[in-house]
Order: sequence, then C-alpha cells, then structure tokens
Amino acid sequence: MHDWMPAVTATTPTTPPDANVGLARLTKLVETDDPAEATVQLAALLEDAEGMDALAAAWRSSPDRVAALVMRLGAKKGMRQRAGRLERAIREAALRQSRAEAEGRLQVAMERSTALPLAEALAPVLGAHVLPVGLRSPPGWEVSPRGVAKLRVSPDSGNVNAVDVAHRPLLIEGRYRDVHDNSVTYALAWAGAGGGWHLHPVPRAKAADARGLVAYAAHDAPVTSNSASDLVAYLDDFEAANLDAIPEARVTSQMGWHGTGDERCFLWGRSVVRAGGTVSAGAVEDLPPARWVPRQLHLLVTEPGVRALADGFRVTGTWEGWLDAVNAALPYPAAMVALYASLVPPLMAFFPTLANFIVDFCGETSRGKTTTLRLAASVWGNPDERGGGIVVSWDNTRVYVERAAALTDYLPTFLDDTKRARKSEDVGRTLYDFASGVGRGRGSLQGIQRTSRAHGVLLSTGEAPATSFTNDGGTRARTLCIWGSPFGGCSADTLVAVQRITAGVLDHHGHAGPRLLQYLLGLADAGAGLRRLYAWRVEEWTKLCNGNPVAGRAAQYVAALDVAKWLLHEALGVPAPTSDPVLVAWEAVIKASAEADRASDALRDVLSWATSQQHRFYGRLEGEPSGNDAPTGGWLGAWASRADWRALAVLPTELRGFLERQKYDAEAVLRVWEQRGWLLRDEGHRTRKATIGERKERCFVVARAGADAVSGEPVEADPAP
Ligand SMILES: Nc1ncnc2c1ncn2[C@@H]1O[C@H](COP(=O)(O)OP(=O)(O)OP(=O)(O)O)[C@@H](O)[C@H]1O
Ligand SMILES: [Mg+2]
Repeated sequence: MHDWMPAVTATTPTTPPDANVGLARLTKLVETDDPAEATVQLAALLEDAEGMDALAAAWRSSPDRVAALVMRLGAKKGMRQRAGRLERAIREAALRQSRAEAEGRLQVAMERSTALPLAEALAPVLGAHVLPVGLRSPPGWEVSPRGVAKLRVSPDSGNVNAVDVAHRPLLIEGRYRDVHDNSVTYALAWAGAGGGWHLHPVPRAKAADARGLVAYAAHDAPVTSNSASDLVAYLDDFEAANLDAIPEARVTSQMGWHGTGDERCFLWGRSVVRAGGTVSAGAVEDLPPARWVPRQLHLLVTEPGVRALADGFRVTGTWEGWLDAVNAALPYPAAMVALYASLVPPLMAFFPTLANFIVDFCGETSRGKTTTLRLAASVWGNPDERGGGIVVSWDNTRVYVERAAALTDYLPTFLDDTKRARKSEDVGRTLYDFASGVGRGRGSLQGIQRTSRAHGVLLSTGEAPATSFTNDGGTRARTLCIWGSPFGGCSADTLVAVQRITAGVLDHHGHAGPRLLQYLLGLADAGAGLRRLYAWRVEEWTKLCNGNPVAGRAAQYVAALDVAKWLLHEALGVPAPTSDPVLVAWEAVIKASAEADRASDALRDVLSWATSQQHRFYGRLEGEPSGNDAPTGGWLGAWASRADWRALAVLPTELRGFLERQKYDAEAVLRVWEQRGWLLRDEGHRTRKATIGERKERCFVVARAGADAVSGEPVEADPAP
C-alpha cells in the first residue's frame, strides 16, 4: 500500500459544516408549534446555504436522526409537501458535499504524487542511470519504484485509491524525431524485472495503441494485454504533462547524405562526417536522454537485427596499415575494381542519372572472391563476414537484406556467396529490388510501409553468376559480372597477396570512406568538376559501345568506377596500379554483351532453320500425316501452325547438333536463353515435355517472346520475377 494514502484520505480540504448546528436548527423547526411561524422558518432555512450545509452534514453523519425529524415535520398539518421539499434539498446538498470532498482529496493526492521529481522518486530503481530533470508523474497517476498506479475516487467511500496498472515503473524518457518525416519514436524506459533500468526505442504510433504496446512485453516491458489500454492512456498523460521536460533528439533512420549548405553532412554508421571533421557517437538508443546533445544528428536503429551492421561502419587500425593491404591488391585489377565500386555510392548524390548497379564476382571456390569483397568493404568499416561486420551472407532473409540496403543509403551493400541463399528466387528478387532502387523501408521507424529510394552499389559473390538467378532483363543490364578468379588464378604469389589483404583489412579499416567524404564535403564547386569528369567519362565509354544498349548502360557504371579510381589515387593519394583496372570491368561488359549478342544470333539461326524444315515439326503443316507417320529423316520437334504460336519445341539432340554445326557454343547459348527467360521449362528442368506424334518428348522449348525479341518485333517488358 502506498504510505501516503492514509494521510491523504484522512485529509478534508475545508472545515466541515457543523452537523450539530444543523441538527439543532432542524429540531427547533420541528418543535415550533405555530404553523405560520414554522413555514417562515422553513423558507428561511431553504434559502440559507450555510444552514443547509450544516443540515447536509447532519444527514451524512446521522441520516436516521435527520430522517426522523423530517418525518415529524411532515406529520404536522399542512407541512407534508414542505417537508418533502426539505428532504430533497438536504440530500442534494449532502451529495454536493461528498463530491467536493472527494475532489479535494484527489487534488491533494495528485499534488502529492506529482510534486516529487521522478529522478528522486525512482532513485532506488535507477541505479547509476540519470533521468532528465523535471520529469514528474502526470496528474491522476502515481509513478513510484512499485510501479504505475492510477488515482481514483472510490464510488462507495469517496476515498482516493491508487489502483496498480503496472508492477514496475515505465515512462517516456526521451523523444527521437526523424529529420525526414518528423515521425516520433519514444525512448521508452522501464525497470527490468531482474533489476536495472532499460531504454527501448518504441515508435509513438505503437505506444499509442494497446496492441502495439503489448508487443514490448517480449522485451520485458511491464505491460500485459490487461494493462495495455490503461498504459496507453497513462503514456499520453505522461507526455502531455512532461512535454517540456522530455528531451528530444534529431535522428535519421538512414545513413548517407543529409542537410544542405552549412548543415551538409554524411551519416557514416553512428558518426556524422562534416566539412570540419567527424563526430563519432555511440548508439543513440543506449545513450540516456539526459545526456543527448541538442541539435546533433544521430542514426536511430530500431531493428535489433541490423544493429550489428550499423555498428560495423567504424574505424579501426591505421591508414598506413590499410594502405599496406591495398598495395598487395594493386597487381590484381578485379580486386581494384571492387575497391572502386565501394567508393561509388556517395558519388550518386553528385550524379543524379547514375542508377543503382550490381558488381558480381563469380567463379569457382577458393579463388579469392570473399577476400575481394572484404577488401572493398574495408573502405567503410569492419569487413568480417563472420559477424559484427558489414559484409553479410546471402543466407540472410530477403527482408533483412532489404532493411540493410535501406539503412545504408549512399553506401555499398556487400553480400557474400549466392550459393548460401535460402531460396534461389530470393537472390533474383533481391537483385531486382536493389537494381530498381526500391527500399520498402519495412524496417523503418514506425513500422510504416514507407517507400524510400535507396542509393547504392551491391557487391555480390557466388560460384554461379548472380544474373543466373533472374530472368529480368533490367536486372541483368544493371549487373557487371566479373567472371573468374579476381586474382587471375591461383599460385604462391596470389596466395601471399590474398593472405596479406585478409590480415590487413581485418585489422585496418574504415579509413578511406570518411576521407573520401571529407574530400567531397570540401569541394569548393559543389562537385561541378566531378560531374564534368563523370560526364566526359560516360561520353568516352559510350563511344565504345557501338550503339549496343546494354553496353551503353554499363558505360555509366564503368564511368563511375573511373571517377572513383581518380578519387582514390589522386584525391586520397592511394598508390595507383600500373595497368588500368577499369579496363577489366569494361572487358566484362563487352564479354557479357557479346555473349548476349551471340545468343540472339543463335536464336535467329534456329528460327530460320526451323522455317526451312517446317515439315519436320509436328503440328506445323496443314494436312499433316498423323500418328507415327514421321517425315523422312524423323521429327525435329513440334511447332503449332497458328500465326500466334506460343512455343517452338526442338528435340535436345537436334538443337545441340544444329548449334554446334553452326559453330555456336551450345551450352553458353542455352544458358543465356535460359537467363533471358526465352526457354519454357518444367520445374526442376531446363526442358519441357512436348507432344510429337504419338509420343511426349522432353524438348528445349523456345518461348514466342524470345523469337519476337530477336526478330525486332515489339516485346512486352519482362515482368518482375
Ligand atoms: N587466388 C588465390 N590463390 C591462392 N589461394 C587462394 C586464392 N584465393 C583464395 N585462396 C585461398 O582460399 C581461401 C579462401 O579465400 P576466399 O574466401 O576469398 O575464397 P572464395 O573465392 O570466396 O571461396 P568460396 O567460393 O569457397 O567462398 C584463402 O584464405 C586462401 O587460402
Ligand atoms: Mg567465399
């Protein structure tokens, strides 16, 4: 029981009217024999507020005596109705009196409960934690080490009771305000069941809803489905009563560029990089609101799952130590391309036409793919993919990857080993989402489905090309696939390099990124020179595309790598390699587009061959012999005769034979067709069953869309996978 309660309950706010005075006056009235005199006295009494108060007091202390007297009065001749009126008036006055007293008590109780600063009242459970000054219990509630109680007047006794709502104290200790959309997240605080004081970010929208609030029971918040709606009301009152005392922090849920003019800065992990220097801060979720620095911008991470990622963007070791690792990578162009790609995302704010793209390192195992990814990641932070770092495995869920990409805006995303993806369609879907720049912000503040564009470059590794996981042409066009060992093979030399890079970047990382940002923030011309450099490089690379649209797109990515190369070696002073690594990226583009063109040529050839051999395709010719009447030389496949045929089925041996006779690499061709979605397949097969004569045979089945694509017919855009 609350120790101040008896004191408050016993207190009555004003001197109570004297019941004896009231009784005496009523007795005198009853004993007046003269009816006229009694009538006059009664009328005077009804008009006399003080007298009525005294009578009401008498009624409340001894209702029976007052009732008896009133009855005697009513028994007198001509007084029955008047006595009735008196009784009603006494009852009303008594009710008013008890209400006023209860309110008075509540008032006193509230003053008692709100007077004590919570920092003092909660001292026993706060330990070393410092509460903001000026926080108090809101009127009508009492917050104490025993919990949160609601003050209420008992309808029977009129006494004030404190009804327990939560068994441990809970309060709003701070408010995070998002600089993008003004959304508010509370720093909700409570005493833990096993002791200690806990801070937890809770979107305001969730704290305003009983069901939303109950979810925090899982985090040990003192809330249940029974108390949640009372606590929602309590938090509302708490916020209203303490608005001036609750500190507010400026936060953002995304890293990357923020602000304009003098306010221009870059959120890199938990740190803010400005033209003057870098302000490093810890996780704002753990910082007591009393210690928040006004105006400072913080990264707020409400999803525990991506906290490690956010904290992985940090500096360790020395710049010289990192340079040593880069020196070991200098002779290996593909590794250097990864490094350049890692520097591109912050530049995207300067080159608005540069869209998200993917750099994919694919090839056989133990050839240095993960090492290359680590080197690239070391530009920004801890590159350890085994935990606590910014390189994450493809085996994370799609939602996680989406949240991670949304969190690290204007920074690269590193995903290691497509082979480990839980579902291969997730890889395709993630690539598609990334390339189209849609971060659904599912992990954002408020849990609102906020659609935000996330900018970045995705660096991925895997044994198979990342593009083999998707049929979407757009995604493939946005992927630079660097095939083979990033170290050009496997030898004693490469092993030494791989080991030196690994050891170097694990101990020394997070230096180059902030240096690049400082350089960009210090640009006198707001990046006009950089934009000119980029535009010029795009122009140069585009000239080499011969109008090939896929290569034309890649020219932009390669141009961005070119600018990043310049920044790394010229602006940051990192030693340059002797040969140009960007050429390797370009070769990859050329190879990919050449391979793509070969595949188109092959399909054109197959179509013309099939047309010349129509009589050998089942279903193609009118009046065709049915059943087993195979044409001379046998069936090649099946092909409907309608102009709007949907599929051309060719027996595998016949198709491979034809392609090989035409000097195509049948396997490469089929792979590209498959990647492009030109092959209709049964699940788990590359082929599909088709009816040829009386039999069903497995065939390679070319979709009409493929034929249309190579014949220059208008083709519907690929649907999202
Ligand atoms: N080019 C190379 N030459 C010699 N040894 C190498 C080379 N690349 C990798 N290794 C060896 O393989 C180990 C693993 O390297 P890394 O993780 O970078 O390979 P990976 O290509 O990612 O392999 P996986 O496909 O299995 O993930 C290295 O520690 C090193 O011992
Ligand atoms: Mg690997």
